[in-house]
Amino acid sequence: RTLRWAWRLGYLSALAGVAYIGYGVYQDRHPEPQIEPDPTKKTLVILGTGWGSVSLLKRLDTENYNVIVISPRNYFLFTPLLPSCTTGTIEHRSIMEPIRTILRAKKASVRFYEAEASSIDPDRKVVRIFDNSEVKGDMTETEVPYDMLVIGVGAENATFGIPGVREHSCFLKEIGDAQNIRKRIMDCVETAAFKDQSPEEIDRLMHMVVVGGGPTGVEFAGELQDFFEEDIKKLVPEISDRFRVTLIEALPNVLPSFSKQLIEYTESTFKEEKINIHTKTMVQKVTDKTVEALATGPDGTKEKIVFPYGLLVWATGNAVRPVVKDLMSRIPAQKNSRRGLAVNEYLVVQGTRDIWAVGDCAVAGYAPTAQVASQEGNFLARLLNNMAKTEALESKIRELSSTLNLEPGNTAEISRQIEEYERQLRRIKDVKPFHYSHQGSLAYIGSEKAVADVTWFNGNVAAAGGLTYLFWRSAYLSMCFSTRNRLLVINDWIKSKAFGRDLSRE
Ligand code: FAD
Ligand code: NAI
Repeated sequence: RTLRWAWRLGYLSALAGVAYIGYGVYQDRHPEPQIEPDPTKKTLVILGTGWGSVSLLKRLDTENYNVIVISPRNYFLFTPLLPSCTTGTIEHRSIMEPIRTILRAKKASVRFYEAEASSIDPDRKVVRIFDNSEVKGDMTETEVPYDMLVIGVGAENATFGIPGVREHSCFLKEIGDAQNIRKRIMDCVETAAFKDQSPEEIDRLMHMVVVGGGPTGVEFAGELQDFFEEDIKKLVPEISDRFRVTLIEALPNVLPSFSKQLIEYTESTFKEEKINIHTKTMVQKVTDKTVEALATGPDGTKEKIVFPYGLLVWATGNAVRPVVKDLMSRIPAQKNSRRGLAVNEYLVVQGTRDIWAVGDCAVAGYAPTAQVASQEGNFLARLLNNMAKTEALESKIRELSSTLNLEPGNTAEISRQIEEYERQLRRIKDVKPFHYSHQGSLAYIGSEKAVADVTWFNGNVAAAGGLTYLFWRSAYLSMCFSTRNRLLVINDWIKSKAFGRDLSRE
Protein backbone atom coordinates (compact mmCIF):
# COMPACT_ATOMS: atom_id res chain seq x y z
CA ARG A 1 0.00 0.00 0.00
CA THR A 2 2.84 2.40 0.89
CA LEU A 3 4.42 1.56 -2.46
CA ARG A 4 1.17 2.37 -4.26
CA TRP A 5 1.04 5.75 -2.51
CA ALA A 6 4.69 6.40 -3.34
CA TRP A 7 3.93 5.66 -7.01
CA ARG A 8 0.94 7.99 -6.97
CA LEU A 9 2.98 10.73 -5.33
CA GLY A 10 5.80 10.28 -7.87
CA TYR A 11 3.27 10.31 -10.72
CA LEU A 12 1.66 13.49 -9.39
CA SER A 13 4.98 15.30 -8.94
CA ALA A 14 6.04 14.31 -12.48
CA LEU A 15 2.72 15.65 -13.77
CA ALA A 16 3.20 18.87 -11.78
CA GLY A 17 6.74 19.21 -13.22
CA VAL A 18 5.49 18.79 -16.80
CA ALA A 19 2.64 21.26 -16.17
CA TYR A 20 5.13 23.77 -14.72
CA ILE A 21 7.44 23.46 -17.76
CA GLY A 22 4.40 23.62 -20.09
CA TYR A 23 3.16 26.80 -18.41
CA GLY A 24 6.64 28.36 -18.70
CA VAL A 25 6.81 27.45 -22.41
CA TYR A 26 3.28 28.83 -22.99
CA GLN A 27 4.19 32.09 -21.24
CA ASP A 28 7.35 32.44 -23.34
CA ARG A 29 5.35 31.92 -26.53
CA HIS A 30 2.52 34.27 -25.48
CA PRO A 31 4.19 37.17 -23.66
CA GLU A 32 2.20 40.10 -22.26
CA PRO A 33 2.15 43.30 -24.34
CA GLN A 34 5.10 45.53 -23.46
CA ILE A 35 5.12 49.17 -22.40
CA GLU A 36 6.75 51.34 -25.09
CA PRO A 37 10.05 53.07 -24.16
CA ASP A 38 9.50 56.51 -22.67
CA PRO A 39 11.92 59.05 -24.21
CA THR A 40 11.29 61.45 -21.31
CA LYS A 41 13.02 59.01 -18.98
CA LYS A 42 16.78 58.70 -18.69
CA THR A 43 18.49 56.68 -21.44
CA LEU A 44 20.40 53.72 -20.09
CA VAL A 45 22.75 52.18 -22.66
CA ILE A 46 24.08 48.67 -21.98
CA LEU A 47 27.04 47.38 -24.01
CA GLY A 48 27.34 43.61 -24.49
CA THR A 49 25.09 40.56 -24.22
CA GLY A 50 27.35 38.37 -22.10
CA TRP A 51 27.18 37.21 -18.49
CA GLY A 52 27.42 40.66 -16.92
CA SER A 53 25.00 42.55 -19.16
CA VAL A 54 22.39 39.79 -19.40
CA SER A 55 22.35 39.22 -15.62
CA LEU A 56 21.76 42.97 -15.27
CA LEU A 57 18.98 42.92 -17.89
CA LYS A 58 17.27 39.96 -16.27
CA ARG A 59 16.73 41.87 -12.99
CA LEU A 60 16.45 45.42 -14.28
CA ASP A 61 13.01 47.08 -14.08
CA THR A 62 13.15 48.33 -17.66
CA GLU A 63 10.11 50.60 -17.19
CA ASN A 64 12.32 52.92 -15.11
CA TYR A 65 14.59 53.82 -18.01
CA ASN A 66 14.70 54.12 -21.75
CA VAL A 67 16.96 51.07 -22.21
CA ILE A 68 19.16 50.43 -25.27
CA VAL A 69 21.30 47.30 -25.61
CA ILE A 70 24.20 47.26 -28.09
CA SER A 71 26.23 44.17 -28.95
CA PRO A 72 27.71 42.54 -32.07
CA ARG A 73 26.22 39.25 -30.80
CA ASN A 74 22.43 38.99 -30.79
CA TYR A 75 22.46 36.14 -28.28
CA PHE A 76 23.67 35.19 -24.83
CA LEU A 77 26.28 32.41 -24.77
CA PHE A 78 26.54 29.92 -21.90
CA THR A 79 30.38 29.73 -21.97
CA PRO A 80 30.88 26.92 -19.36
CA LEU A 81 29.67 24.36 -21.93
CA LEU A 82 31.53 25.88 -24.88
CA PRO A 83 34.42 23.33 -24.74
CA SER A 84 31.80 20.55 -25.27
CA CYS A 85 30.78 22.22 -28.58
CA THR A 86 34.26 21.79 -30.05
CA THR A 87 33.75 18.04 -30.33
CA GLY A 88 30.01 17.96 -30.94
CA THR A 89 29.11 16.56 -27.50
CA ILE A 90 26.80 19.56 -27.37
CA GLU A 91 25.43 21.36 -30.42
CA HIS A 92 26.22 25.08 -30.41
CA ARG A 93 22.60 26.30 -30.59
CA SER A 94 21.81 24.46 -27.34
CA ILE A 95 23.89 26.96 -25.35
CA MET A 96 22.75 30.12 -27.14
CA GLU A 97 19.74 32.18 -26.10
CA PRO A 98 18.53 34.89 -28.50
CA ILE A 99 18.69 38.33 -26.89
CA ARG A 100 15.39 39.26 -28.55
CA THR A 101 13.66 36.46 -26.57
CA ILE A 102 15.23 37.71 -23.35
CA LEU A 103 14.19 41.30 -24.06
CA ARG A 104 10.66 40.30 -25.10
CA ALA A 105 10.07 38.97 -21.59
CA LYS A 106 10.67 42.41 -20.05
CA LYS A 107 7.74 44.57 -18.89
CA ALA A 108 8.85 47.62 -20.87
CA SER A 109 10.33 47.09 -24.30
CA VAL A 110 14.05 47.53 -24.82
CA ARG A 111 15.75 48.64 -28.03
CA PHE A 112 18.52 46.37 -29.35
CA TYR A 113 21.16 47.30 -31.94
CA GLU A 114 23.40 44.56 -33.34
CA ALA A 115 26.57 46.60 -33.50
CA GLU A 116 30.01 46.99 -32.00
CA ALA A 117 30.92 50.02 -29.91
CA SER A 118 34.10 51.52 -31.32
CA SER A 119 34.52 54.43 -28.89
CA ILE A 120 32.93 56.10 -25.90
CA ASP A 121 33.06 59.85 -25.35
CA PRO A 122 32.42 60.46 -21.62
CA ASP A 123 32.36 64.26 -22.06
CA ARG A 124 29.69 64.33 -24.79
CA LYS A 125 28.03 61.20 -23.32
CA VAL A 126 27.83 59.32 -26.62
CA VAL A 127 28.84 55.87 -27.80
CA ARG A 128 30.04 55.45 -31.39
CA ILE A 129 28.80 52.19 -32.91
CA PHE A 130 29.21 50.41 -36.23
CA ASP A 131 27.62 47.43 -37.95
CA ASN A 132 30.28 44.73 -38.39
CA SER A 133 27.91 42.02 -39.66
CA GLU A 134 28.00 40.66 -43.22
CA VAL A 135 24.84 42.39 -44.46
CA LYS A 136 25.15 46.16 -44.42
CA GLY A 137 22.49 48.83 -44.94
CA ASP A 138 23.06 52.43 -46.06
CA MET A 139 23.70 53.37 -42.44
CA THR A 140 26.63 51.45 -40.95
CA GLU A 141 28.01 53.82 -38.35
CA THR A 142 26.36 56.23 -35.93
CA GLU A 143 26.33 57.66 -32.40
CA VAL A 144 24.06 56.72 -29.51
CA PRO A 145 23.66 59.32 -26.73
CA TYR A 146 23.30 58.08 -23.15
CA ASP A 147 22.47 59.45 -19.72
CA MET A 148 23.80 56.33 -18.01
CA LEU A 149 26.13 53.71 -19.49
CA VAL A 150 26.95 50.14 -18.46
CA ILE A 151 29.98 48.57 -20.12
CA GLY A 152 29.93 44.76 -20.24
CA VAL A 153 31.99 44.04 -23.36
CA GLY A 154 34.08 41.24 -21.85
CA ALA A 155 37.66 40.67 -22.98
CA GLU A 156 39.51 39.43 -26.04
CA ASN A 157 42.10 36.66 -26.36
CA ALA A 158 45.56 37.38 -25.01
CA THR A 159 48.38 36.59 -27.44
CA PHE A 160 51.14 38.65 -25.76
CA GLY A 161 52.28 39.68 -29.25
CA ILE A 162 53.79 36.21 -29.81
CA PRO A 163 54.53 35.92 -33.55
CA GLY A 164 52.22 33.66 -35.57
CA VAL A 165 49.54 33.15 -32.91
CA ARG A 166 46.78 35.23 -34.56
CA GLU A 167 47.50 33.78 -38.01
CA HIS A 168 47.74 30.09 -37.17
CA SER A 169 45.86 29.20 -33.99
CA CYS A 170 42.25 28.67 -33.07
CA PHE A 171 40.87 30.47 -30.00
CA LEU A 172 38.07 29.26 -27.75
CA LYS A 173 35.87 32.17 -26.67
CA GLU A 174 32.96 32.41 -29.07
CA ILE A 175 30.60 30.00 -30.84
CA GLY A 176 32.45 30.60 -34.14
CA ASP A 177 35.70 29.49 -32.45
CA ALA A 178 34.15 26.20 -31.28
CA GLN A 179 32.74 25.52 -34.77
CA ASN A 180 36.13 26.30 -36.28
CA ILE A 181 37.89 23.84 -33.96
CA ARG A 182 35.32 21.12 -34.64
CA LYS A 183 35.85 21.49 -38.41
CA ARG A 184 39.63 21.58 -38.02
CA ILE A 185 39.80 18.41 -35.88
CA MET A 186 37.95 16.42 -38.55
CA ASP A 187 39.98 18.05 -41.34
CA CYS A 188 43.19 16.92 -39.62
CA VAL A 189 41.85 13.38 -39.19
CA GLU A 190 40.62 13.07 -42.79
CA THR A 191 43.83 14.60 -44.18
CA ALA A 192 45.91 12.20 -42.08
CA ALA A 193 43.88 9.31 -43.52
CA PHE A 194 44.54 10.53 -47.08
CA LYS A 195 46.06 7.89 -49.38
CA ASP A 196 49.85 7.53 -49.13
CA GLN A 197 50.25 10.20 -46.47
CA SER A 198 53.78 9.90 -45.01
CA PRO A 199 54.13 8.64 -41.38
CA GLU A 200 55.72 11.96 -40.30
CA GLU A 201 52.88 13.93 -41.80
CA ILE A 202 50.28 11.65 -40.13
CA ASP A 203 52.05 12.26 -36.81
CA ARG A 204 51.94 16.01 -37.33
CA LEU A 205 48.31 16.12 -38.43
CA MET A 206 47.17 13.91 -35.57
CA HIS A 207 49.02 16.02 -32.99
CA MET A 208 46.60 18.41 -31.26
CA VAL A 209 48.42 21.08 -29.25
CA VAL A 210 46.75 23.22 -26.58
CA VAL A 211 48.64 26.25 -25.22
CA GLY A 212 47.55 27.46 -21.76
CA GLY A 213 46.88 25.18 -18.81
CA GLY A 214 44.10 27.32 -17.29
CA PRO A 215 40.55 25.93 -17.06
CA THR A 216 39.84 26.61 -20.79
CA GLY A 217 42.88 24.65 -22.00
CA VAL A 218 42.35 21.79 -19.51
CA GLU A 219 38.63 21.37 -20.27
CA PHE A 220 39.27 21.45 -24.02
CA ALA A 221 42.09 18.87 -23.77
CA GLY A 222 39.78 16.57 -21.77
CA GLU A 223 36.91 16.91 -24.28
CA LEU A 224 39.28 16.26 -27.17
CA GLN A 225 40.67 13.07 -25.65
CA ASP A 226 37.09 11.84 -24.99
CA PHE A 227 36.17 12.51 -28.62
CA PHE A 228 39.14 10.51 -29.76
CA GLU A 229 38.64 7.57 -27.37
CA GLU A 230 34.88 7.30 -27.81
CA ASP A 231 34.43 8.06 -31.49
CA ILE A 232 37.40 8.81 -33.77
CA LYS A 233 39.33 5.71 -32.66
CA LYS A 234 36.40 3.44 -33.56
CA LEU A 235 35.54 5.09 -36.86
CA VAL A 236 39.04 5.83 -38.21
CA PRO A 237 41.04 2.92 -36.70
CA GLU A 238 43.84 2.91 -39.30
CA ILE A 239 45.50 6.04 -37.87
CA SER A 240 44.19 5.93 -34.31
CA ASP A 241 47.52 5.04 -32.67
CA ARG A 242 49.00 8.34 -33.94
CA PHE A 243 46.51 10.64 -32.18
CA ARG A 244 48.13 12.74 -29.43
CA VAL A 245 47.06 15.68 -27.29
CA THR A 246 49.74 17.96 -25.78
CA LEU A 247 49.05 20.69 -23.24
CA ILE A 248 51.72 23.39 -22.86
CA GLU A 249 51.77 25.60 -19.77
CA ALA A 250 54.29 28.28 -18.81
CA LEU A 251 53.80 27.87 -15.03
CA PRO A 252 54.97 24.85 -12.95
CA ASN A 253 51.46 23.31 -13.00
CA VAL A 254 48.10 23.39 -14.74
CA LEU A 255 44.92 24.86 -13.20
CA PRO A 256 46.88 27.29 -10.99
CA SER A 257 43.69 28.66 -9.38
CA PHE A 258 42.64 25.22 -8.01
CA SER A 259 43.84 23.60 -4.80
CA LYS A 260 47.05 21.52 -4.79
CA GLN A 261 45.37 18.12 -4.51
CA LEU A 262 43.08 18.86 -7.47
CA ILE A 263 46.06 19.96 -9.56
CA GLU A 264 47.78 16.65 -8.76
CA TYR A 265 44.58 14.71 -9.52
CA THR A 266 44.19 16.49 -12.87
CA GLU A 267 47.80 15.88 -13.85
CA SER A 268 47.64 12.18 -12.94
CA THR A 269 44.30 11.76 -14.77
CA PHE A 270 45.81 13.40 -17.85
CA LYS A 271 48.70 10.95 -17.64
CA GLU A 272 46.21 8.03 -17.60
CA GLU A 273 44.34 9.59 -20.51
CA LYS A 274 47.69 9.88 -22.34
CA ILE A 275 47.53 13.65 -22.58
CA ASN A 276 51.11 14.99 -22.54
CA ILE A 277 51.62 17.90 -20.19
CA HIS A 278 54.61 20.23 -20.66
CA THR A 279 54.74 22.60 -17.71
CA LYS A 280 57.35 25.35 -17.24
CA THR A 281 57.26 25.62 -21.02
CA MET A 282 56.73 29.02 -22.60
CA VAL A 283 55.60 29.23 -26.22
CA GLN A 284 57.59 31.88 -28.05
CA LYS A 285 56.74 31.46 -31.71
CA VAL A 286 54.10 29.78 -33.87
CA THR A 287 54.41 28.86 -37.55
CA ASP A 288 51.81 27.21 -39.80
CA LYS A 289 53.00 23.74 -38.78
CA THR A 290 55.04 24.12 -35.57
CA VAL A 291 54.98 25.60 -32.10
CA GLU A 292 58.36 26.69 -30.71
CA ALA A 293 58.71 26.79 -26.95
CA LEU A 294 61.35 27.28 -24.28
CA ALA A 295 61.24 24.65 -21.54
CA THR A 296 62.90 25.10 -18.13
CA GLY A 297 64.28 21.89 -16.65
CA PRO A 298 64.31 21.00 -12.90
CA ASP A 299 67.93 22.26 -12.68
CA GLY A 300 66.99 25.56 -14.34
CA THR A 301 68.49 24.72 -17.73
CA LYS A 302 66.60 26.01 -20.76
CA GLU A 303 65.79 23.88 -23.76
CA LYS A 304 64.09 24.82 -27.02
CA ILE A 305 61.37 22.38 -28.08
CA VAL A 306 59.61 22.32 -31.44
CA PHE A 307 56.15 20.73 -31.55
CA PRO A 308 54.77 19.95 -35.02
CA TYR A 309 50.98 20.22 -34.91
CA GLY A 310 47.81 19.68 -36.93
CA LEU A 311 45.51 21.67 -34.66
CA LEU A 312 46.66 24.43 -32.31
CA VAL A 313 44.28 25.86 -29.73
CA TRP A 314 45.46 29.02 -27.96
CA ALA A 315 43.96 29.50 -24.49
CA THR A 316 46.24 31.86 -22.58
CA GLY A 317 43.63 34.07 -20.97
CA ASN A 318 42.23 37.57 -21.46
CA ALA A 319 43.33 40.89 -22.94
CA VAL A 320 41.62 44.31 -22.87
CA ARG A 321 39.30 45.11 -25.82
CA PRO A 322 40.18 48.16 -28.01
CA VAL A 323 37.01 50.08 -27.05
CA VAL A 324 37.93 49.73 -23.37
CA LYS A 325 41.57 50.66 -24.02
CA ASP A 326 40.39 53.75 -25.87
CA LEU A 327 38.13 54.82 -22.98
CA MET A 328 40.90 54.20 -20.45
CA SER A 329 43.22 56.48 -22.43
CA ARG A 330 40.64 59.31 -22.14
CA ILE A 331 40.34 59.10 -18.32
CA PRO A 332 43.32 60.27 -16.23
CA ALA A 333 42.16 58.19 -13.21
CA GLN A 334 42.59 55.01 -15.30
CA LYS A 335 46.25 55.77 -16.06
CA ASN A 336 47.62 52.97 -13.86
CA SER A 337 45.02 50.35 -14.70
CA ARG A 338 46.35 47.61 -16.99
CA ARG A 339 43.83 44.79 -17.04
CA GLY A 340 40.62 46.73 -17.63
CA LEU A 341 38.46 49.53 -16.27
CA ALA A 342 39.19 50.15 -12.59
CA VAL A 343 35.83 50.40 -10.78
CA ASN A 344 34.87 51.39 -7.23
CA GLU A 345 32.85 49.23 -4.81
CA TYR A 346 29.62 50.31 -6.57
CA LEU A 347 31.10 49.32 -9.96
CA VAL A 348 31.33 52.95 -11.08
CA VAL A 349 34.24 53.40 -13.51
CA GLN A 350 36.87 55.41 -11.59
CA GLY A 351 37.19 58.98 -12.83
CA THR A 352 33.81 59.05 -14.59
CA ARG A 353 30.19 59.94 -13.85
CA ASP A 354 27.24 57.78 -14.86
CA ILE A 355 29.43 54.96 -16.27
CA TRP A 356 29.52 51.51 -14.70
CA ALA A 357 31.43 48.39 -15.78
CA VAL A 358 30.73 44.70 -15.16
CA GLY A 359 32.43 41.39 -15.93
CA ASP A 360 35.76 40.71 -17.59
CA CYS A 361 36.28 44.32 -18.72
CA ALA A 362 36.05 45.62 -15.13
CA VAL A 363 38.81 45.40 -12.54
CA ALA A 364 37.11 45.00 -9.18
CA GLY A 365 39.66 42.69 -7.58
CA TYR A 366 38.10 39.37 -8.63
CA ALA A 367 38.95 36.69 -11.22
CA PRO A 368 37.42 37.15 -14.68
CA THR A 369 34.71 34.50 -14.37
CA ALA A 370 31.04 34.10 -15.28
CA GLN A 371 30.25 33.83 -11.57
CA VAL A 372 31.73 37.26 -10.84
CA ALA A 373 30.20 38.85 -13.97
CA SER A 374 26.69 37.58 -13.17
CA GLN A 375 26.86 38.68 -9.52
CA GLU A 376 28.07 42.12 -10.65
CA GLY A 377 25.19 42.30 -13.15
CA ASN A 378 22.66 41.37 -10.44
CA PHE A 379 24.13 43.95 -8.05
CA LEU A 380 23.99 46.69 -10.67
CA ALA A 381 20.36 45.86 -11.51
CA ARG A 382 19.46 46.34 -7.84
CA LEU A 383 21.44 49.59 -7.70
CA LEU A 384 19.83 51.02 -10.85
CA ASN A 385 16.33 49.93 -9.74
CA ASN A 386 16.95 51.66 -6.40
CA MET A 387 18.25 54.81 -8.06
CA ALA A 388 15.05 55.07 -10.12
CA LYS A 389 12.88 54.47 -7.02
CA THR A 390 14.90 57.09 -5.11
CA GLU A 391 14.32 59.68 -7.81
CA ALA A 392 10.59 58.90 -7.89
CA LEU A 393 10.30 59.19 -4.07
CA GLU A 394 12.34 62.40 -3.94
CA SER A 395 10.10 63.98 -6.54
CA LYS A 396 6.97 62.88 -4.57
CA ILE A 397 8.45 64.40 -1.37
CA ARG A 398 9.25 67.65 -3.23
CA GLU A 399 5.69 67.79 -4.60
CA LEU A 400 4.08 67.13 -1.22
CA SER A 401 6.33 69.65 0.56
CA SER A 402 5.27 72.33 -1.91
CA THR A 403 1.58 71.66 -1.13
CA LEU A 404 2.09 71.95 2.65
CA ASN A 405 1.46 75.73 2.67
CA LEU A 406 -1.33 75.50 0.11
CA GLU A 407 -3.49 73.07 2.10
CA PRO A 408 -3.30 74.22 5.78
CA GLY A 409 -6.24 71.99 6.78
CA ASN A 410 -4.44 68.89 5.51
CA THR A 411 -0.99 69.49 7.03
CA ALA A 412 -1.02 66.48 9.38
CA GLU A 413 -1.91 64.01 6.62
CA ILE A 414 0.65 65.47 4.17
CA SER A 415 3.38 65.40 6.86
CA ARG A 416 2.53 61.77 7.59
CA GLN A 417 2.87 60.89 3.90
CA ILE A 418 6.18 62.78 3.62
CA GLU A 419 7.48 60.92 6.66
CA GLU A 420 6.45 57.60 5.15
CA TYR A 421 8.21 58.42 1.85
CA GLU A 422 11.30 59.55 3.75
CA ARG A 423 11.33 56.28 5.66
CA GLN A 424 11.13 54.34 2.37
CA LEU A 425 13.86 56.54 0.92
CA ARG A 426 16.24 55.86 3.83
CA ARG A 427 15.72 52.12 3.40
CA ILE A 428 16.30 52.20 -0.36
CA LYS A 429 19.31 54.51 -0.18
CA ASP A 430 21.07 52.13 2.19
CA VAL A 431 22.67 50.02 -0.61
CA LYS A 432 25.69 48.09 0.58
CA PRO A 433 28.75 48.02 -1.73
CA PHE A 434 29.25 45.07 -4.09
CA HIS A 435 30.44 41.96 -2.34
CA TYR A 436 31.36 38.83 -4.33
CA SER A 437 30.32 35.53 -2.84
CA HIS A 438 32.44 32.68 -4.25
CA GLN A 439 30.43 29.50 -4.76
CA GLY A 440 33.40 27.43 -5.92
CA SER A 441 35.23 26.37 -9.09
CA LEU A 442 34.42 23.42 -11.31
CA ALA A 443 36.25 21.97 -14.29
CA TYR A 444 35.74 18.91 -16.52
CA ILE A 445 38.99 16.99 -17.11
CA GLY A 446 37.88 14.21 -19.46
CA SER A 447 36.94 10.50 -19.10
CA GLU A 448 33.81 11.45 -17.16
CA LYS A 449 35.78 13.04 -14.31
CA ALA A 450 35.66 16.56 -12.96
CA VAL A 451 37.39 18.58 -10.24
CA ALA A 452 35.59 20.92 -7.85
CA ASP A 453 36.71 23.41 -5.23
CA VAL A 454 33.42 24.20 -3.55
CA THR A 455 32.68 26.64 -0.76
CA TRP A 456 30.76 24.86 1.99
CA PHE A 457 29.74 26.56 5.25
CA ASN A 458 32.56 29.12 4.96
CA GLY A 459 35.07 26.35 4.35
CA ASN A 460 36.55 24.84 1.19
CA VAL A 461 35.79 21.30 0.00
CA ALA A 462 37.89 19.77 -2.75
CA ALA A 463 36.34 16.88 -4.70
CA ALA A 464 37.32 14.98 -7.83
CA GLY A 465 36.22 12.01 -9.91
CA GLY A 466 33.06 10.46 -11.37
CA LEU A 467 30.61 11.74 -8.76
CA THR A 468 32.04 15.24 -9.11
CA TYR A 469 31.41 14.88 -12.83
CA LEU A 470 27.71 14.21 -12.12
CA PHE A 471 27.72 17.27 -9.84
CA TRP A 472 29.41 19.28 -12.64
CA ARG A 473 26.71 18.22 -15.08
CA SER A 474 23.80 18.98 -12.76
CA ALA A 475 25.31 22.32 -11.67
CA TYR A 476 25.77 23.52 -15.25
CA LEU A 477 22.37 22.19 -16.29
CA SER A 478 20.69 24.15 -13.53
CA MET A 479 22.68 27.27 -14.51
CA CYS A 480 21.62 27.11 -18.19
CA PHE A 481 19.76 30.24 -19.24
CA SER A 482 16.34 28.77 -20.06
CA THR A 483 14.26 25.60 -19.93
CA ARG A 484 14.73 25.37 -23.71
CA ASN A 485 18.54 25.36 -23.26
CA ARG A 486 18.29 22.73 -20.52
CA LEU A 487 16.18 20.38 -22.63
CA LEU A 488 18.47 20.82 -25.64
CA VAL A 489 21.60 20.12 -23.58
CA ILE A 490 20.07 16.96 -22.04
CA ASN A 491 19.05 15.84 -25.52
CA ASP A 492 22.62 16.42 -26.83
CA TRP A 493 24.16 14.45 -23.96
CA ILE A 494 21.84 11.51 -24.58
CA LYS A 495 22.35 11.71 -28.36
CA SER A 496 26.14 11.74 -28.23
CA LYS A 497 26.21 8.90 -25.68
CA ALA A 498 23.75 6.71 -27.60
CA PHE A 499 24.82 7.36 -31.20
CA GLY A 500 28.30 8.82 -30.82
CA ARG A 501 29.41 12.30 -31.85
CA ASP A 502 28.82 13.43 -35.39
CA LEU A 503 32.08 13.17 -37.39
CA SER A 504 30.84 15.01 -40.48
CA ARG A 505 32.79 18.14 -41.33
CA GLU A 506 30.47 21.05 -42.15
P1 FAD B 1 31.20 38.05 -22.11
O1 FAD B 1 30.33 37.00 -21.58
O2 FAD B 1 32.38 37.66 -22.92
O3 FAD B 1 30.29 39.03 -22.98
C1 FAD B 1 30.80 40.15 -23.63
C2 FAD B 1 29.73 40.70 -24.54
O4 FAD B 1 30.15 41.94 -25.10
C3 FAD B 1 29.44 39.79 -25.73
O5 FAD B 1 28.07 39.79 -25.98
C4 FAD B 1 30.19 40.47 -26.86
O6 FAD B 1 29.64 40.18 -28.13
C5 FAD B 1 29.99 41.93 -26.51
N1 FAD B 1 30.97 42.85 -27.08
C6 FAD B 1 32.26 42.61 -27.39
N2 FAD B 1 32.82 43.72 -27.91
C7 FAD B 1 31.85 44.68 -27.91
C8 FAD B 1 31.83 46.03 -28.33
N3 FAD B 1 32.90 46.62 -28.84
N4 FAD B 1 30.65 46.71 -28.21
C9 FAD B 1 29.55 46.11 -27.69
N5 FAD B 1 29.53 44.84 -27.28
C10 FAD B 1 30.67 44.14 -27.38
N6 FAD B 1 33.53 31.22 -15.97
C11 FAD B 1 33.00 30.56 -14.92
O7 FAD B 1 32.73 31.17 -13.88
N7 FAD B 1 32.73 29.22 -14.98
C12 FAD B 1 32.99 28.49 -16.10
O8 FAD B 1 32.76 27.28 -16.14
C13 FAD B 1 33.53 29.17 -17.23
N8 FAD B 1 33.80 28.49 -18.36
C14 FAD B 1 34.33 29.15 -19.42
C15 FAD B 1 34.63 28.44 -20.58
C16 FAD B 1 35.20 29.07 -21.67
C17 FAD B 1 35.52 28.30 -22.91
C18 FAD B 1 35.46 30.47 -21.61
C19 FAD B 1 36.08 31.17 -22.79
C20 FAD B 1 35.19 31.18 -20.47
C21 FAD B 1 34.63 30.54 -19.36
N9 FAD B 1 34.34 31.23 -18.19
C22 FAD B 1 33.79 30.56 -17.11
C23 FAD B 1 34.62 32.67 -18.08
C24 FAD B 1 33.34 33.46 -18.41
O9 FAD B 1 32.81 33.04 -19.65
C25 FAD B 1 33.63 34.94 -18.50
O10 FAD B 1 34.24 35.36 -17.30
C26 FAD B 1 32.33 35.69 -18.72
O11 FAD B 1 31.83 35.40 -20.00
C27 FAD B 1 32.53 37.19 -18.59
O12 FAD B 1 31.30 37.82 -18.79
P2 FAD B 1 31.24 39.25 -19.50
O13 FAD B 1 29.82 39.66 -19.52
O14 FAD B 1 32.22 40.16 -18.91
O15 FAD B 1 31.76 38.98 -20.99
P1 NAI C 1 43.85 31.61 -17.68
O1 NAI C 1 44.35 33.00 -17.62
O2 NAI C 1 43.14 31.04 -16.51
O3 NAI C 1 45.04 30.61 -18.03
C1 NAI C 1 45.94 30.86 -19.10
C2 NAI C 1 47.20 30.05 -18.87
O4 NAI C 1 48.03 30.22 -20.00
C3 NAI C 1 47.98 30.53 -17.66
O5 NAI C 1 48.13 29.45 -16.76
C4 NAI C 1 49.31 31.00 -18.24
O6 NAI C 1 50.40 30.68 -17.42
C5 NAI C 1 49.37 30.24 -19.56
N1 NAI C 1 50.21 30.93 -20.57
C6 NAI C 1 50.21 32.24 -20.88
N2 NAI C 1 51.11 32.47 -21.87
C7 NAI C 1 51.68 31.30 -22.19
C8 NAI C 1 52.66 30.90 -23.13
N3 NAI C 1 53.24 31.76 -23.96
N4 NAI C 1 53.01 29.60 -23.19
C9 NAI C 1 52.43 28.70 -22.37
N5 NAI C 1 51.48 29.00 -21.47
C10 NAI C 1 51.11 30.29 -21.38
O7 NAI C 1 42.93 31.56 -19.01
P2 NAI C 1 41.63 30.71 -19.34
O8 NAI C 1 41.82 29.28 -19.03
O9 NAI C 1 41.25 31.07 -20.72
O10 NAI C 1 40.54 31.29 -18.34
C11 NAI C 1 40.14 32.67 -18.41
C12 NAI C 1 39.20 32.97 -17.25
O11 NAI C 1 37.99 32.23 -17.43
C13 NAI C 1 39.78 32.55 -15.91
O12 NAI C 1 39.40 33.47 -14.92
C14 NAI C 1 39.11 31.22 -15.63
O13 NAI C 1 38.95 30.97 -14.25
C15 NAI C 1 37.76 31.37 -16.32
N6 NAI C 1 37.33 30.04 -16.77
C16 NAI C 1 36.75 29.24 -15.83
C17 NAI C 1 36.37 27.95 -16.16
C18 NAI C 1 35.80 27.08 -15.10
O14 NAI C 1 35.59 27.52 -14.00
N7 NAI C 1 35.53 25.82 -15.41
C19 NAI C 1 36.53 27.43 -17.54
C20 NAI C 1 37.18 28.36 -18.44
C21 NAI C 1 37.55 29.62 -18.05
